[in-house]
Amino acid sequence: MNAGFIGIGKCVPPQVVTNADLEKRMDTTDEWIRTRTGIEQRHIADENTDSSDLAYQAAVNAIEDAGIQPEDIGLILVATVTPDLPFPSVSAMIQDRLGAKHAAAMDVSAACAGFMYGVVTAKQFVESGAYRYVLVVGVEKLSKIMDWEDRGTAVLFGDGAGAAVIGKVSEGRGILSFELGADGSGGKHLFQDRYIQMNGREVFKFAVRQMGESAESVIEKAGLTKEDVDYLIPHQANMRIMEASRERLGLPPEKMSKTIHKYGNTSAASIPISLVDDVADGKVKDDDVIVLVGFGGGLTWGGLCIKWGR
Ligand code: COA
Repeated sequence: MNAGFIGIGKCVPPQVVTNADLEKRMDTTDEWIRTRTGIEQRHIADENTDSSDLAYQAAVNAIEDAGIQPEDIGLILVATVTPDLPFPSVSAMIQDRLGAKHAAAMDVSAACAGFMYGVVTAKQFVESGAYRYVLVVGVEKLSKIMDWEDRGTAVLFGDGAGAAVIGKVSEGRGILSFELGADGSGGKHLFQDRYIQMNGREVFKFAVRQMGESAESVIEKAGLTKEDVDYLIPHQANMRIMEASRERLGLPPEKMSKTIHKYGNTSAASIPISLVDDVADGKVKDDDVIVLVGFGGGLTWGGLCIKWGR
């Protein structure tokens, strides 16, 4: 029995902050941000909106897309490094708001790779028969842990949420393979004290190497070759990192997801948000072989190879 994606949804806050807006706030330029990162704008939540609000709305959309009821969900996993509070978890908060009264709830902390960790965990519970449906949400309100005086990080990130209902899908479809990994020795390159602290060059080098390796690994584990891959959805951290993964797989530009220009780096939310936009735009279709790869603070990483469709 194969677990797969049976519903997806997203939520981004309405306020858009453009590179031109940032030029007025700090010593940076639209040109620098675009050419170094590919980012043109990001969505930023207001003070009355926290991670649980974004997660809730993305979850509502995913549940509706799946055509199930909140009561059908056995487990809620929320991947986030920006919970409203250390506890209760965001997953417990939305469990109540959704009316998912039969669901267990816990948060997953694996930074930008968190959604990958959540989906792989969900797959185990679905395929073991323990839960019929698991709701996985990647959500961040990174704006609350960003130092708006630090141009090295403030230009990179955005707020948002993406969600998926994981359940049993039809024969031949679903999650074909996965990879998860961590290297805690690199934790010093990307962490939060009060604000996000980052050694951009070290993270860049790690990301280029790891995204390529994870993509190749999940393709091989699925018993496939690069030629079988229809579409790549890399974590949207930096266009140059994404391009390196795409070139390593030998895919043309139109076969890689690119949403970073609209949302910036939304950490755990970036991959599910991209998935929602790409399915809506017809870039991901039933029976396509898609590869999802993410990396983040920890350092952590994860990949999935999926035959798309319910
Ligand atoms: N606007 C203008 N100039 C900026 C700037 C900004 N927002 N941020 C940094 N600079 C300057 C630097 O101060 C530096 O100036 P200097 O040469 O006078 O010292 C110059 O630009 C180049 O900095 P550098 O760090 O070499 O740039 P880079 O090409 O490595 O790009 C990142 C910086 C952060 C975009 C890039 O390293 C990166 O994306 N790393 C990975 C980050 C990431 O993915 N994090 C999330 C992980 S989930």
